[in-house]
Amino acid sequence: MFKINDNFCKLPESYLFSEVARRINAFKEANPDTDVIRMGIGDVTIPICPAAIEAMHKAVDDESRTETFHGYGPEQGYPFLREAIAENDYKARGIEISADEIFVSDGAKSDTGNIGDLLSADNIVALTDPVYPVYADTNVMAGRAGRLSENGSWDRLVYLPVSAENGFEPQIPQEHVDVIYLCYPNNPTGTALTRLQLKKWVDYARKEGALILFDSAYEAFIHTPDVPHSIFEITGAKEVAIEFRSFSKTAGFTGVRCGYTVVPKDLKAKDAEGREVSLNRLWNRRQCTKFNGASYVSQRGAAAIYTPEGRRQASEAVEYYMENARALRQGLSEAGFEVYGGVDAPYVWLKTPGAMTSWEFFDWLLETANVAGTPGSGFGPAGEGYFRLTAFNTHENTRRAIERIKAVGQKS
Ligand code: MLT
Repeated sequence: MFKINDNFCKLPESYLFSEVARRINAFKEANPDTDVIRMGIGDVTIPICPAAIEAMHKAVDDESRTETFHGYGPEQGYPFLREAIAENDYKARGIEISADEIFVSDGAKSDTGNIGDLLSADNIVALTDPVYPVYADTNVMAGRAGRLSENGSWDRLVYLPVSAENGFEPQIPQEHVDVIYLCYPNNPTGTALTRLQLKKWVDYARKEGALILFDSAYEAFIHTPDVPHSIFEITGAKEVAIEFRSFSKTAGFTGVRCGYTVVPKDLKAKDAEGREVSLNRLWNRRQCTKFNGASYVSQRGAAAIYTPEGRRQASEAVEYYMENARALRQGLSEAGFEVYGGVDAPYVWLKTPGAMTSWEFFDWLLETANVAGTPGSGFGPAGEGYFRLTAFNTHENTRRAIERIKAVGQKS
């Protein structure tokens, strides 16, 4: 009999957002006339901006003519997009990243999951708690997480708790770790790290010979001047970090799919024989073998975000969502909740009232206010007692959700 990767059997039955969707659907089925406002998964609601749509229409037409047809593209992404990223997302911020350090993909979720292919199973992995579930789950799949304990933590992972008590700043671990996942601006807490706070991590990684996997999928939402948009704004980060970015939230590409990963050429490791190995070369090798590139059409759409109209249109959508975040912060505070995040990220993180667990609050909010969010405990043990709402809905639905929460909050 063939054998499976037993690590998959260690995982909880379903992925967090599948479980959230299952519960909402069950509720809808039992209450078909109820109008549920969905503020759970961070999916965008504003259509893709006209500049990108126009570019994608044109790209589809390119595919219809022999002279402009594109079959398999470069696995690393088309030069037109890699160069636009290097120029606009890095050079314009004073960071030297060359086009061949940028690998275009179908999104940051895949890349943050797939990057583990490059890492040995015996690395000690640290992650903030709560955390985007992909980081923990993919390390479970790879056999780096150990066993699941009673409290929902994996015994080989090093958890870096972030909560109201420590101002949502992960503390440098006392022990040595090999790999550190940081997502800033943070999903799920919606909080950010300042340049000085992020520098501590770069310094730690340099001292310990550790690798930082930095997910900055939400950088477009940063409003605070002292919050870095890229880890490569920190001196020395190119020797210790890989950065993941996405067009999903920045430009409404959750359905179209496009993102990218930056693997600097300065980032080196040692193989088992002690020979120096470039991670840029390894990631290139991995992508060439397992990935045939993001579609030509989506890459043309993504490149249009870097034109003056594309930039303006995309940033209008970001501001629209951040207005929701502001309204959520204010409305929920007025309703008596402790509220965090939502200043540099499209997520608002609130403390559940009294002794309510995250899932109890999820059910209560769904049943009484017909508003769906995401339970904090789904993102890790330290998320227990917290709850996440996204700012990605319409102004109208956000306002209605706030009114409903205020109304049931007052009755409870
Ligand atoms: C979230 O809600 O955390 C995100 O939308 C999930 C994702 O980006 O995959």
